[in-house]
Amino acid sequence: MFNMSFTDEQKDLQKMVREFAQKRVFPQAKELDRAGVFAGDLFNEIFQMGLHCMNQPEEYGGPGLDSVTCALLIEELAKGDVGFATTIAANGLAAYPVILAGTDEQKKRFFEIVDHGKLAGFCLTEPNAGSDAASIATTARLDGDEYILDGSKCFITNGGVADVYTVFATVDRSKGLKGLCAFLVERDRTGVSVGKKEDKLGIRTTSTCDVIFQNVRIPITNLLGEEGQGFKIAMETLDCSRPVVGALGVGLGQAAVDMSIKYAKERVQFGKPIAAFQAIQFMLADMAIQVEASRWLVYRAAHLKDAGQPFTKEAAMAKTIASDTAMKVSVDAVQIFGGYGFSREYPIEKLMRDAKILQIFEGTNQIQRMVIANQLFK
Ligand code: CAA
Repeated sequence: MFNMSFTDEQKDLQKMVREFAQKRVFPQAKELDRAGVFAGDLFNEIFQMGLHCMNQPEEYGGPGLDSVTCALLIEELAKGDVGFATTIAANGLAAYPVILAGTDEQKKRFFEIVDHGKLAGFCLTEPNAGSDAASIATTARLDGDEYILDGSKCFITNGGVADVYTVFATVDRSKGLKGLCAFLVERDRTGVSVGKKEDKLGIRTTSTCDVIFQNVRIPITNLLGEEGQGFKIAMETLDCSRPVVGALGVGLGQAAVDMSIKYAKERVQFGKPIAAFQAIQFMLADMAIQVEASRWLVYRAAHLKDAGQPFTKEAAMAKTIASDTAMKVSVDAVQIFGGYGFSREYPIEKLMRDAKILQIFEGTNQIQRMVIANQLFK
């Protein structure tokens, strides 16, 4: 039974984050996007609000928000700037391997870093291991009571600004996914460096970089879970995080709808506001339907997770519909704005650019459909 109503605490948090996103994040987004820089000041502000790592458990100093509340808040941040919201979402993504598989001591160490207003990065992807996450080439070689990490990760969200990483590497490539392991790696270890910064189409306000591990020695106590559990930890992490990507899409889609409604009421052609024309009304109605349907699938997946029920299929569905919707409605918004939608002076073209990555990262929407189909046949 899915009976969703929000608590007063959830509504208060939502209001607070909405105001922050509208008054602080949105007004800076255009310039930051143009410059392609990470908003350090805004990050400090959300750190002061205690919401920079939303899933950080209360016993380790965080807000310990459940997934439904995270979805509500990420949606609000995304209405302000999807890049900034992605930075916060990726902090939570990087924390999940520690939350899911870490010992008490590992959680204390990881969240002590995060607690100092620092960011984390999830290092799974490599140049030849994207959708095929099991073909990771970064190696972890045991040497006494240390592992030595060697390899390069790419497209790492928060890569250039993180102080701690969760890293996936193989102890034996011949074992395929059974050789994968997850590690906690502090940024200040010798041999960890940040490589190329991506010059991206969208989410330009988030840091996306290569992260390189060259002969990096980490204590055996940095292994999360057991040797060979890395792939399972990565998959479970992505399950947890996909509703959050869905929430990014819902926020972006809602922003596109809201801006389009306002513009349609103001823009006069043929002697009346374009909102009076059925061609525009039907487009807006379709956009609103799709965003609302996405929102409830995101809540549904998050609710199942919070209730401790299976949610792999619903998480993939939520991510897919919400990101496809974000793409579709942002293109429609550009159409409603016409030439102004195509101009960089208006905030609409940025929505369209930001939407594209949501169909790609944390598993392309083709991979999501594989995950969903696998679950349907179980
Ligand atoms: N939870 C727990 N275990 C899982 C699981 C899940 N959701 N999914 C799979 N597994 C386990 C299976 O049980 C199986 O274990 P056993 O062998 O012990 O039975 C094992 O993993 C292999 O499962 P499959 O055979 O189903 O795996 P597959 O190889 O056929 O498919 C895949 C895997 C779904 C394609 C997977 O590789 C995948 O999700 N790829 C996409 C990776 C991805 O999302 N990358 C994004 C990078 S992160 C990112 O974008 C971050 C960023 O910075 C924004």
